[in-house]
Amino acid sequence: TYVVTDACVKCKYTDCVDVCPVDCFREGPNFLVIDPDECIDCTLCVAECPVEAIYAEDDVPANMTQYIAANAELAKQWPIIVQKKEPLPEHEEWASISGKFDQIER
Ligand code: SF4
Ligand code: F3S
Repeated sequence: TYVVTDACVKCKYTDCVDVCPVDCFREGPNFLVIDPDECIDCTLCVAECPVEAIYAEDDVPANMTQYIAANAELAKQWPIIVQKKEPLPEHEEWASISGKFDQIER
């Protein structure tokens, strides 16, 4: 499966959702996740993300492995998103800031 990681938090560009052939993105207030039970590993979303937030599960950097379980958990709580929309208003400011796990709104 593929995993959305730190760069997405407080940015949420949503370019990724338009290309997913199986609609496995789920939307929270300031972060998106991938439902690991739905992802078919097509890789299409990876190149779409302007901040390179999406990794194959096996390639998630060591400092972001907590995002693997978070995607699985939050995917079961959040609604589906299938169409791109405007990024969050403060996206430019937050795109280059890392360590945002604790700022995910649930
Ligand atoms: Fe969807 Fe493919 Fe990305 Fe999985 S890898 S989330 S199936 S676009
Ligand atoms: Fe997030 Fe990148 Fe998609 S910032 S919403 S994973 S395009």
